[in-house]
Amino acid sequence: MGSSGGNSRLIVAVKGYDLQNFLAKLKILKEIRKETLIHMSPSGTLLIATGNRGKLKEFDEILSTFPIRLLNLTDFPGIAPVSEDGMTFIENALLKARGYAAQAGILTLADDSGLEVDALGGAPGVHSARYAGENALDVERNKQLLDALSLVKDDERTARFVCALALVDGSGDVLFVTTGTCEGRISTYPRGVRGFGYDPLFVPSGFVETFGELDESVKDRISHRGKALKSMCQYIAENLNHLR
Ligand code: IMP
Repeated sequence: MGSSGGNSRLIVAVKGYDLQNFLAKLKILKEIRKETLIHMSPSGTLLIATGNRGKLKEFDEILSTFPIRLLNLTDFPGIAPVSEDGMTFIENALLKARGYAAQAGILTLADDSGLEVDALGGAPGVHSARYAGENALDVERNKQLLDALSLVKDDERTARFVCALALVDGSGDVLFVTTGTCEGRISTYPRGVRGFGYDPLFVPSGFVETFGELDESVKDRISHRGKALKSMCQYIAENLNHLR
């Protein structure tokens, strides 16, 4: 690793990695980061544009691998909420990323995600956060979903989580958009206390446990957000020294 006059020189360390197994190797990557002199320009700051604590925890776990200062919406007390009235997850992720980047003036990552249930024609979909009303709790949304599926047989309770991520720079230009999905089915009753939102009801394909029961590291590896973040991390790793 040669010096580049005090400027960014992370790329070599990250590029050498098998990005297919990126998430599984986060610990190793963190060690390399410690052992490698990494310099990032002071502008290396990323706003994670969500107020959802569950999402923030998952973003932090994965993005803290990079030598970027991570901020979230609570670091911008005066920031105005951006309306999410798009028809798709991608539209909403772009609305949020552009809307918050315009106000904060820094590199901004936004997520829009939700649950699509086949027996409900894809609902709650982009309305997942408001499925039981504007200020409802997770437990109320979960009850609403179980009630809607009360007559639906086990083999027809298929569903998927979808996550769209959009990265926009401080001047509002869209840098990268990606999506991830996680197939599964809806349990007949809530199980587990991990995660957030619909996690206690969602059984990912290949497992018998819900996301509420599975270890967080398993969710990070197979979830919609984990998969979308994997390609976002690849983009960030490859462009780290150009991001503003
Ligand atoms: P939004 O992206 O802020 O519109 O919110 C999406 C909503 O979908 C969340 O409030 C959760 O109810 C649900 N959701 C999204 N991702 C997950 C997840 O990983 N686990 C559980 N629920 C989720």
